[in-house]
Amino acid sequence: MSMQEKLDQLSQLRQTVEAGGAQKRIDKQHESGKKTARERINELFDPGSFKEIDVFAASEDNFEELKNPGEGVTTGYGTIDGRKVYVYAQDFTVAGGSLGSVHAAKICKVLDMAIKVGAPVVGLSDSGGARIQEGVDALNGYGEIFFRNTIASGVIPQISVIMGPCAGGAVYSPALTDFIMMVSGTSQMFITGPQVIKAITGEEVSMEALGGASTHNQVSGVAHFMSSNEEECIATIRALLSYLPSNNLDEPPVFTPVEPVMDKETLLSICPIDPNKGYDIRDVILTVVDGSNLLEVQPYYAMNGVVGFARFNGHSVGIVANQPKVLAGCLDVNVSDKIARFIRFCDAFNIPIITFMDVPGFLPGVQQEYGGIIRHGAKMLYAYSEATVPKITIIIRKAYGGAYLAMCSSSLRADAVYAWPTAEIAVMGPEGAVNIISRKEITEAENPVEMRKKLVQDYRDRFANPYIASARGFVQDVIDPRDTRATIIDALENFSTKRETRPRKKHGNMPC
Ligand code: HXC
Repeated sequence: MSMQEKLDQLSQLRQTVEAGGAQKRIDKQHESGKKTARERINELFDPGSFKEIDVFAASEDNFEELKNPGEGVTTGYGTIDGRKVYVYAQDFTVAGGSLGSVHAAKICKVLDMAIKVGAPVVGLSDSGGARIQEGVDALNGYGEIFFRNTIASGVIPQISVIMGPCAGGAVYSPALTDFIMMVSGTSQMFITGPQVIKAITGEEVSMEALGGASTHNQVSGVAHFMSSNEEECIATIRALLSYLPSNNLDEPPVFTPVEPVMDKETLLSICPIDPNKGYDIRDVILTVVDGSNLLEVQPYYAMNGVVGFARFNGHSVGIVANQPKVLAGCLDVNVSDKIARFIRFCDAFNIPIITFMDVPGFLPGVQQEYGGIIRHGAKMLYAYSEATVPKITIIIRKAYGGAYLAMCSSSLRADAVYAWPTAEIAVMGPEGAVNIISRKEITEAENPVEMRKKLVQDYRDRFANPYIASARGFVQDVIDPRDTRATIIDALENFSTKRETRPRKKHGNMPC
């Protein structure tokens, strides 16, 4: 073969791989509102930056004819906003994106390389699961991926994007990663599909109701982001990455600071003086963060808490807040999980944590106790105590009991705690406290209703304020709400050189 013939052969083989599956499969993909693996990659990366690896990888029985181009997955790396990111994108047009041993080896190589160079990995899932013809080799392939997902955890950010089916044990790779994104209507995740469920339990359920984007974003809490189409989903991946460092030894990128769009004077009226009235904590957050931009994580799940990424003075932070307009902002089983996991991500990746506290307590109730609020709530205490990134806490209003401690109090090693003048920091709320400590006085009073009212007011005047905690040094300063942004920026700057270590150990044992 002449050099020219060899070059022609190379070009022909490359075209075969790049074409992916049969045209009718590509058409079907488009008709169902989905893109091909390569179309997704092109949209995700900076133009012209994607470099494919293992282009001609093929299993033995597929080697001669390249029957399954790329073995159903395209892998490589490129840049997103100028920063290196690794990717694997399953190609449903080739054998349904099913995972055989070569497909798995390609994904493993991407994970190994990303760990080696310290770059995030984005996995685009669209697959019929284990390649049935490959049997136990396919299962082993999943195991190899699970192992690497675990080793990479806390070393590089891992983002799983579900853009089609993701069924059976295959769901555990995304579940081991940091964030799961889903697209409404076209992505589903489940361990066992509707047919198996019907055969075993008799329950009838559609694929979408069982494992669609709404289910996992609102009900199960498995997913962290929901998009209405693939373009929106890819924009969310890019936005999320903009807040993250490339690895655990790196710092997040710094942006040009932008003042909030909202007027800081509104901070005087967002939070009602009446402690029984709710409000949207996001209004407070948006009034203090750069450009009034908050990328909320799990915005539809456990909505009694808000977590997400924002910036102060151009620097990334993780925001954790109670949401007084849902369940009065109480901590329950689900929100404890949501907050604890978010804290651990921020701590692993050098992202300071800003906590906005307005919490009446842990949610009382039989269901919460049966659901294990003790072990779930403990995750928050554990995660905050373990975290060594700068931790700044702002107490807006209620700060009661164990929930006060759990929302990053000074005892869990917040570096600085500030309170608004509206803060109420005590063992429990006035109503509950008076019922216990003044029961006799109330029942024996001539007018128990009036007496109770008076005692509640006395308690509020005496205990429900920020000054006792300030006197003890648990609160560093009581601030004018309008100074919140400036105070946080100053504290972040002050603690930017923070160095804190914990005793050496193999690993802790977080409650679960
Ligand atoms: C081999 C597969 C495949 C698989 C799909 N294909 N899934 N090939 N192994 N797991 C092939 C089909 O044969 C077909 O090939 C092509 O991919 C497209 O599939 P269709 O069925 O035509 O597509 P569609 O109608 O859109 O249905 C998609 C689907 C269905 C719902 C995902 O394919 C399906 O139910 N697949 C099997 C799902 C499953 O049970 N997987 C195993 C899960 S258990 P042709 O040649 O016709 O184009 C698992 C264990 C993991 O994964 C354990 C990890 C620990």
